[in-house]
Amino acid sequence: PPKILYDCDTGIDDAMTLLYLASLVQAGEAELAAVGTVHGNIDPMTGALNTLRVLEAAGGPVVPVAVGAARPMAQDVHYAVDWHGTDGLGDTRLPEPAGRPTAEPAAAQIVRLARAMPGELTLLATGPLTNLGAALLLDGELPSLIREVVVMGGAFDHPGNITTHAEANIWHDPEAADLVFAADWPIVLVPLDATHPTAVHDDWLDRLAAHGTPVSRFAADILEFYADAYTPTLKRRGAVIHDALAAMLIVDPELGEYAHRPVRVELRGELTRGTTVWDARSLPADDARRPVKVAVGSDVAEFQERLLSALMAF
Ligand code: BDR
Ligand code: CA
Repeated sequence: PPKILYDCDTGIDDAMTLLYLASLVQAGEAELAAVGTVHGNIDPMTGALNTLRVLEAAGGPVVPVAVGAARPMAQDVHYAVDWHGTDGLGDTRLPEPAGRPTAEPAAAQIVRLARAMPGELTLLATGPLTNLGAALLLDGELPSLIREVVVMGGAFDHPGNITTHAEANIWHDPEAADLVFAADWPIVLVPLDATHPTAVHDDWLDRLAAHGTPVSRFAADILEFYADAYTPTLKRRGAVIHDALAAMLIVDPELGEYAHRPVRVELRGELTRGTTVWDARSLPADDARRPVKVAVGSDVAEFQERLLSALMAF
C-alpha cells in the first residue's frame, strides 16, 4: 500500500480527506506516515489541532502532526473563514484534542521522512504549497527521493474559485506552487476541472447524516456549514469535497482521466496572478519542464459512492 505524507490546511474538505485516509489505513489500503499543516483555510496551528481532532474522532491512526508555514513566500496571508468557518471546521467548535502537534516544522518532516524511506513516500498536498516549496529549498535531492506528488490545486478550462482564473491553493502561494511544478518529480495535479463536477448534493448529505454512526454524524455536522457556503456557487445545496478526489486518485488512479502537460504558475499578471497555465499546444514541447499528469475528469459516481462508504465505515 502507498505510504502517504499528507500536507493540508484543515479545512472542511481536508477533514473529509483525513477521514477517508483513516478508513484506508484501517482497511490496510494505505499507510499514513505523517501529517503536516500549512496556512490556507486557517492558520497552521489551528489546522494541526483540527487534524488531531479529526484523526481522534476516527479512532486513529495516531501519527505525527507537524505545524508548517504560517505565511506564503512572497505575499500576505489570507484565510478562508467564509468557506470553512472561523475554526476551520464549520464553526462546530470541537473540544481540544488529546494529542499535541510535534515540534518539528512540516517542511523538515518532509525531508526527514523522504530520507528515511527513499523512493517510497507519496506526498499528498491539499493546501497551499509552501511546505513543499520550503522542503525543496531545504534539500535539493528531495525530488529523487519521492515516489509521487499528488496536489489538489489549479484551474485550466474551469474558472477560478478565488479570482476569475486562480484556484485558492495556488493563489495562496504562487511562488511555492511554481517551485513544485518546476521540480523534477512525478506530479499528479487535481484541479477544479476535475473536482467541481464531483459536487455532492442533498441526497448524498442526507444519506451520510442518516447513517447515524458517530463518525458519519461528525462528518455530516462539519459539512453543514460548507454546504451552506456552496449554495450560491452550485445554485443548490451541495458540497465540493475537492481534496478527497486527490487522495482517492492515489489508491484508484483509474478513476481519473488525465492530460500530460508542463504547468507553470502566473506570478506577475495584474488580473491573473496565481493562475495555473498549461502548454496544450500540439507543437513539440519547447518547455524544459517535466509534464504534469493533470486530472481533467473522473468517474463521479464511483468517487461519490466510495467516499460515502468510507465515511460510513467506522
Ligand atoms: C481548495 O481550497 C481549499 O479551500 C479547499 O480545502 C481545497 O483544498 C479548493 O480550491
Ligand atoms: Ca484544502
